Amino acid sequence: MTDLRIPPDRPSPSVQEILTGDVVPPPSVMLSESPATGLGEGDVSADRYFSRDWHEREVEQVWRRTWQMACRVEEIPNVGDHVIYEIVHDSLIIVRSGPDEIRAYVNACLHRGTLLRTEPGSVKQFRCPFHGWTWNLAGQLTDVPGQWDFPGLDKDKACLPQARVGVWGGFVFINMDPACEPLDSYLEILPAHFEAFRLEDRYKAAHVAKIMPCNWKLAMEAFIESYHVPMAHPQVLGYYGDENTQYDVWPGVRHVSRMIAVQGVPSPSMTGLDANLTIKHIRRDVPFYGGAPIEASTSREARAKLAQRAREKIGRASGRDLSGLSDSESLDLIEYLLFPNMVPWGGQALPITYRFRPHKDNPEESVMEILLLFAKAPDGSHPEPAAITWLGLDDPWSSAPELGSAAMVADQDTDNLKRIQRGLRASRKPGVTLAAYQESRIRHFHETLDSYVLGGGSKPPPR
Ligand code: FES
Ligand SMILES: [Fe+2]
Repeated sequence: MTDLRIPPDRPSPSVQEILTGDVVPPPSVMLSESPATGLGEGDVSADRYFSRDWHEREVEQVWRRTWQMACRVEEIPNVGDHVIYEIVHDSLIIVRSGPDEIRAYVNACLHRGTLLRTEPGSVKQFRCPFHGWTWNLAGQLTDVPGQWDFPGLDKDKACLPQARVGVWGGFVFINMDPACEPLDSYLEILPAHFEAFRLEDRYKAAHVAKIMPCNWKLAMEAFIESYHVPMAHPQVLGYYGDENTQYDVWPGVRHVSRMIAVQGVPSPSMTGLDANLTIKHIRRDVPFYGGAPIEASTSREARAKLAQRAREKIGRASGRDLSGLSDSESLDLIEYLLFPNMVPWGGQALPITYRFRPHKDNPEESVMEILLLFAKAPDGSHPEPAAITWLGLDDPWSSAPELGSAAMVADQDTDNLKRIQRGLRASRKPGVTLAAYQESRIRHFHETLDSYVLGGGSKPPPR
């Protein structure tokens, strides 16, 4: 039956038509689509990308109330291992406090406020570097030098304050609101969809963080639509489905959206492109598909053979039998958004997760991170998870070789983002205008953002 919500003029073939023709079919969660319905149509206010007032509302209503991905489980395997998660003014120590327990402590000494830790590492206790007050891994105050001088101090009541902690998909999440909804319900449909992709069976093989010249939302929005691809990344049109990208926003789902963009087939605008040019162009930009020659006489055959090449490579690298890995997971962008700032991907050829957040207290700069999650060996073993490579405002993504072909595209986007941030300040137009379908995930994101920022912090109503 025809879904009346699918825009009748969306260029074909559709993602669904391509997926149903694949040799190794995709997981069932990919074999349906849910175009947005019931979203608003007006412009989205521009000041939310630069105003200090909006930024401060986000601090209170979003960053201090939502679940955020803080790190990967494999980064803190042993008791005492910890990382620091920082978001605007807040700093949390995410620590393995017991073999099966992870806690998030407010990273500030209860004497005079000093940060207890500034680096990831492993400790037996948290000793403040200023005067030496010390807490154990359970957060209890165990030592106060010169305690005779604090007659009013009740050590039993001076435990380190905690944020809520949850784990899903091998990620550790935190929430600073003691009254927050449980992580399980916050994640909505995400766990059911990712049963097919099993990010808990991956490990962090690369992690690059870069200071971006724009608001965190602008950066994220550039990575959740394909509308900009023909203009910003014209080199990919021989092998990337831009105009036929599928965008999903499910009724009643507030925190999650999805897009599926196919690769190994040309853009609908490149009708009649020789299949061998598709192969040539993707191999030029993505060495991952390189190796022995591949030839194809049809677009479908090119996609199948490129997928087969990816399966072989990922299987060899991980020691797994990946003969059943779908063509789509071997080629496509299967990209979800978890509100507010996490963008996990399902596939294995592009095993990306993005995270976006403000850079310190500046609404016009952000930190964008690209994590690559590779498959663990069948017995669950894996190399040491990657440490973070930090790139400054002027360092290109391409200076991080571990990103491979993802860097070139991210650099093209970063050049644009600098112009967008500047242009939004110069503009006399009070809002940004969004495409009804191709930018529906951005619209949906802002409706959820509004419900938090303008909703006074109450739990957003179901849509
Ligand atoms: S500020 Fe931490 S012990 Fe004094
Ligand atoms: Fe882009």
